[in-house]
Amino acid sequence: MTVGARAWPAGHGRVVITGGAGFLGSHLCDRLVERGHEVICVDNCVTGSTANVEHLIGHSKFSFLRHDVSRPLSVDGAVDAILHFASPASPRDYLELPIQTLKVGSLGTHNCLGLAKAKDARFLLASTSEVYGDPQVHPQTESYWGHVNPIGPRGVYDEAKRFAEAITMAYHRAHGVDVRIVRIFNTYGNRMRPSDGRVVSNFLVQAVQGKPLTVYGDGSQTRSFCHVDDEVAGILALLESDHVGPVNIGNPTEFTVSELAEIIIEITGSSSEVIHEPLPVDDPTQRRPDISLARSVLGWEPRIPIREGLARTVSYLEAEVNRRER
Ligand SMILES: NC(=O)c1ccc[n+]([C@@H]2O[C@H](COP(=O)([O-])OP(=O)(O)OC[C@H]3O[C@@H](n4cnc5c(N)ncnc54)[C@H](O)[C@@H]3O)[C@@H](O)[C@H]2O)c1
Repeated sequence: MTVGARAWPAGHGRVVITGGAGFLGSHLCDRLVERGHEVICVDNCVTGSTANVEHLIGHSKFSFLRHDVSRPLSVDGAVDAILHFASPASPRDYLELPIQTLKVGSLGTHNCLGLAKAKDARFLLASTSEVYGDPQVHPQTESYWGHVNPIGPRGVYDEAKRFAEAITMAYHRAHGVDVRIVRIFNTYGNRMRPSDGRVVSNFLVQAVQGKPLTVYGDGSQTRSFCHVDDEVAGILALLESDHVGPVNIGNPTEFTVSELAEIIIEITGSSSEVIHEPLPVDDPTQRRPDISLARSVLGWEPRIPIREGLARTVSYLEAEVNRRER
């Protein structure tokens, strides 16, 4: 679906990024400030940290607003775009924060859409591959409606994002808000938290500490992993395009979890062994984006191979673990 979008203010827009102090949001703040935009980062730091944007504090094109976007949000002056990235995002976080996750996906998205409507701003929703649930179609194309358990523990995240997509399209259709929806697949890289419970950070931290790598289940479940620099390039390509979406942005190269463990042991030179623990409830068995749409409408595809991306990430996580232990 495409729209006759109003011109995107290249290099001089005013952009609100909710969740801007998080992993992905902070990289978006960096890229947009670098491109000359003014960025207003809105975050309540429930899972993110101002440490991720402290290098931007004091920059004339950057400001930070500590605010829970599940409460009404107002911003003075013109706004050209709102990138709604606020949400607990790792399974460990959203299982600990189930109500906050549902609220930020529903009330938070509603508040941000209201601001977009009031300011006549473009609105980009950070959706997720989790809208596909435990998919019965592989790889997942945007036309697949998903296979989600609404009452399982992971439903708080999956259904919040599905609602967020639905209300985004309702504001687009009913109020003409200029929207974009990106479905983000597993992303890794600098500024991911060592303790976020995601498989890449778990394995990297365990490997550098010489601890056993914990594989849940038999390790035959597959995942695909996108380096944050590729992911952010895809998100910004969508923001600047005239395509509403949803568009999958992720890396289609698929690995079993056991293969990932082996690669991480190899690149870290670790002597760690692999141990197995039971699979969590509703853990998807397969996950891989079909990125044909992103290739054709955005001219985007990932460029950073997994070994290179992991090598870039390992020194960051090692330093972060040491800093937290001090
Ligand atoms: N990282 C991934 O692999 C991935 C995959 C799919 C989708 N996403 C989506 O991308 C977005 C960012 O994910 P991330 O990995 O950077 O996670 P993150 O936890 O690092 O960042 C999320 C940020 O949102 C903030 N936040 C949460 N609730 C808020 C609220 N009510 N008000 C204000 N701020 C709030 C947190 O403090 C944090 O800084 C999320 O919406 C997530 O669903 C991420």
